[in-house]
Order: sequence, then structure tokens, then C-alpha cells
Amino acid sequence: MRILGIESSCDETGVALYDTSRGLLAHRLHTQAQMHATYGGVVPELASRDHVRRLPALVREVMADGRMDWTELDVIAYTAGPGLAGALLVGASFAESLALALNKPTLPVHHLEGHLLSPLLTEPRPEFPFLALLVSGGHTQLMAVEAVGDYRLLGETIDDAAGEAFDKTAKLLGLGYPGGPALAALAERGDPTRFALPRPLLHAPTLDFSFSGLKTAVALKVGSPDWRAEYAADLAAAFQEAVVEVLVTKTVAAVRAAGLRRVVVAGGVGANRRLREMLAEAGAKQGFAVFYPDVALCTDNGAMIAFAAALRLEAGAEVKWDRRIEVRPRW
Ligand code: KG4
Ligand code: ZN
Repeated sequence: MRILGIESSCDETGVALYDTSRGLLAHRLHTQAQMHATYGGVVPELASRDHVRRLPALVREVMADGRMDWTELDVIAYTAGPGLAGALLVGASFAESLALALNKPTLPVHHLEGHLLSPLLTEPRPEFPFLALLVSGGHTQLMAVEAVGDYRLLGETIDDAAGEAFDKTAKLLGLGYPGGPALAALAERGDPTRFALPRPLLHAPTLDFSFSGLKTAVALKVGSPDWRAEYAADLAAAFQEAVVEVLVTKTVAAVRAAGLRRVVVAGGVGANRRLREMLAEAGAKQGFAVFYPDVALCTDNGAMIAFAAALRLEAGAEVKWDRRIEVRPRW
């Protein structure tokens, strides 16, 4: 089966071609980060318009890279949610229209299922069952994954997502948007012990997270009369240490509670070096293995959408022929 995957839920336009017998044939990504940086965050209307501009060329490029003729496509998969309504509608309309023109079926995909399964695109491929730690700009979840389509939510954030906390804290420290990677880079040079920051919900009996208080604690430090600009790296390090400690502690608790031996990390925050280091240490101690998608597949991308569609189809999912353009921003 040959699947074209389209991702447009936020500020990345991703397109990919996946073949169930030959693997990932081609993928292209256009990120709008620079366009939104001027505004300090994603501007939904600009995101939608840019997806409109980019999609046709990206799809043509991917078809050429994969040396595939339109007639050889079997299914067109696209992200139907969650995400920005307008941005999702662009991808859905494009995919449904292309499918109508080519007389092919479609398959709407849940964005987080794409992230969740993306580590299976990279060798070594973890076997089921595993624990998924989903850490992106919009979500922070711990999920027990038994098989494709069989997911059990064990815990999630009750306020900000981990990536969102990184981005907001970066903004407080004047690091621009999206500040997560910049904050992580600054933290590398800092001393995490100069500032004592809270570990929200660390010892709570649930597997839920809360990161908004941490951001407030950082705001209080930055706003205090004895704040000095040269403390920025130390505060960044203290913040990163707090987030990572909470993420790792809850992951260990979830592994134990669910009796699992494999952990899969997905979403943009999975690129964080300190998180990877502490998870590796915890895994060595507790006896679980940790898997990551390729760095290129950590952020939003079309490959994970085409791939999730492929696994769903192999698991018996029905394709869609009704041509209706429907998105689910809060899916
Ligand atoms: O999965 P993703 O590309 O997009 C979605 O949110 O769906 O994740 C992006 C998030 C942003 O919040 C970004 O700041 C964060 O991942 N991020 C990082 C790092 N790289 C990206 N956060 C911490 N450390 C990093 N190295
Ligand atoms: Zn995402």
C-alpha cells in the first residue's frame, strides 16, 4: 500500500510518502517558525495561509522524490485533529480534493497517534507493549500502548504542556519564539543549583503533570529586585532540571504501574538532551529500554501521519470515500 501523508495542524507543513513494503520513500517539511517569531507565537490565520501556499509544491516534490505516479497512490492520509481549526481545514480540504480528483480514498489521522507511533519508523523498532511519553508544545501525556489503536491514558498535564512551559519560560528570559531549544541550549551553560524551583505534583499519587506554577516561579525570580541578567543560564538550568525530573519520575512510576519494559518518547521535547540523559540513567537502573524517533521525526511531520495511517490500515481500519471535509480541533 502506498500512502501520501499530509500534516498541517499547527505551524509545520509536512508531506510524506510511505510504502508498506518499502518503507518511507520521501518526506518534506516546511516550518513556519520564522514567520511567527515576529509575533512571539503562532498566528493561526497566517499559519493557514502559509499551508495553502506550501502544500501543492511539497506534494509534487514528494511524489517526484519517491518516483511515484499519482495513479500508484492507494490512500491519502491527513491530520484531522487536534490542532488549529483553520490550519487543519487547509490540510483536510487539500487531501479530500486531491483524493476526489484522483478517485482515491482518504484516511483522517489523529495527530498524537502520529507522534505516538513515530518511534516505530526508526530502527531499533520497539515491540509492543510500551509506555509512550508524549511531550510536545501542545501535549504532555503518559500512555500505555498495547497495540496499534489500543491506547490507555495513564496521566497528562492539567495545565501547560512541557514544551509550552519551555517556550513561555524562554520568553520570560527574552529568548524569542519558539524558545524551547534556545532555553535548553542556555541551560547547558548554567548551574542548576543556584535557584530552587518547585517540582509540581512530583509526589502526588497520580501520573498527572502541572507546569504552569513552574513558569510563575521563574517569572517571580526574573521580576525580583536582585535579579541580574547574568543569572539567566542558571535559571534556565534550574527550570530544565525541574521539568526533566518531574517527567522522568512520573515515567518511572508509570512503567512500574503498568508493568512495562519499554519506553517510547515522542514529541518535540524528546529532543532535549538532559531528558534523554536522565531517562537513560533511570532505564539502566529500573530495567527499561528507551526509544526515540529520528530527530527529523521528533517535530510535527508528514511521515508520522502516513505511517500511522499505514499501521491503522494494516490493523483493519476502513478508508473514507464520503469526500466530507471535517476536522476535529479538540479531538
Ligand atoms: O512536537 P512538536 O514539534 O510540536 C507540537 O507541539 O506538536 O513540539 C514542539 C515543542 C516546542 O514547545 C519546543 O519548544 C519544544 O518542543 N522543544 C524543546 C526542545 N526542542 C523542541 N523543548 C526542550 N528542549 C528541546 N531541546
Ligand atoms: Zn505535534
